[in-house]
Amino acid sequence: MGNDKLNYKQYAAFINREVELKDLRSFIDKEPSEILFIHGPKSSGKTTLLYKFLEQVEVEQKLDVKFLNLRKMLTEFPETVDYNDFLSVLFNVEDEKNKAGKLSAGINVGFFKIDSEIERKIRQGKVDPFKVMEKEFIRLKKKGIKPVLIIDELQALDNIYLSNGRQRRLIIELFNFFVAMTKESHLAHIMVASSDGYFINRVYTDSKLKKASEFYKVDYLNKEDVMDWLRNLKKYSKIKDYTLTEEDAGKIWELVGGSVWEIQYLLSRFFEHPIDEVLTLYKKKMKGLIAYYIGVDNRKEALLRIFLDRRHAFIKDFMKEGIPTAEIEELLPDMVRNNILYFDPTEATYFPQGESYRWGIRLYFDGAV
Ligand SMILES: Nc1ncnc2c1ncn2[C@@H]1O[C@H](COP(=O)(O)OP(=O)(O)OP(=O)(O)O)[C@@H](O)[C@H]1O
Ligand SMILES: [Mg+2]
Repeated sequence: MGNDKLNYKQYAAFINREVELKDLRSFIDKEPSEILFIHGPKSSGKTTLLYKFLEQVEVEQKLDVKFLNLRKMLTEFPETVDYNDFLSVLFNVEDEKNKAGKLSAGINVGFFKIDSEIERKIRQGKVDPFKVMEKEFIRLKKKGIKPVLIIDELQALDNIYLSNGRQRRLIIELFNFFVAMTKESHLAHIMVASSDGYFINRVYTDSKLKKASEFYKVDYLNKEDVMDWLRNLKKYSKIKDYTLTEEDAGKIWELVGGSVWEIQYLLSRFFEHPIDEVLTLYKKKMKGLIAYYIGVDNRKEALLRIFLDRRHAFIKDFMKEGIPTAEIEELLPDMVRNNILYFDPTEATYFPQGESYRWGIRLYFDGAV
């Protein structure tokens, strides 16, 4: 919710998520025994949920929550991000003043406090960074404090992971270290979140994560929640300038489903423009987005066509359509990385990122709007 001193026509809402908050709570209420991989389509509300969770648990004295948002940390030079950059966000050099930023929740973002001497040794390869982290966990445990580590936007490491053998091995090592900290020595709770289910799955497959981790999906809101929100704009978004009819609310649900970011965006447009106009324009935009992504690539077109008559697809469904394996292997990851498709790592299925993408695909093929 917004700061009361500032006056806006619309505020960020926070709808429901009772079940998810309870599930996260029970995850940290048992002794650490696996890594929790939080996944879900683009903008489904993972980060917001995690911040809310933080808000709830940070008041507890017996927890030490370290929250690392990799998108925030690594966005400066995304193409050149390397493992050293990653290390520098993990470690917060204490004797260099003001190096640590603060999150709104008031938590230090540098994961582990070290002095510059240790940092130098880590960089020179003389001190094992994992040992430094383990020591910190042990120190906290001895004080009766439960360490909780949350790494958000894991996909920001994509470049490091894909780059070269050594860097990639270090990430795998990091995850294997997380396995040791959870499943083996039960020292810390570790949660990792990303919208790139495909990337999560790669890390999962390449490290020793089987039977050492659990997937948790944060999906778009369901119809009941969305309708409740749209019927009560004043309550949830503090919108006083207009209300929506039942029919309008139905149309919004039909176009974007429970995609919170898109609902919020549409609501902001209704101040100035008639609802039908906004929705039609949005459909055009989605059609354009798909057309732009496909460009002149017939192979992409063939792959996306499958979603005209199915909601989700397994790899074998693309194969059945006669699409060559090499194309599937090249294009599916590209579609996931470009947020056209979402890959659900638990079910191993691919589907359009949301209802609006489904509309975009349909309109692209039938030429309407
Ligand atoms: N429960 C909710 N109710 C209403 N709005 C929400 C809710 N959760 C998130 N939002 C809004 O949706 C937008 C996207 O949320 P958020 O950034 O948390 O998604 P995300 O899943 O972390 O996205 P990404 O896939 O990019 O990491 C934000 O503007 C946020 O305010
Ligand atoms: Mg996020």
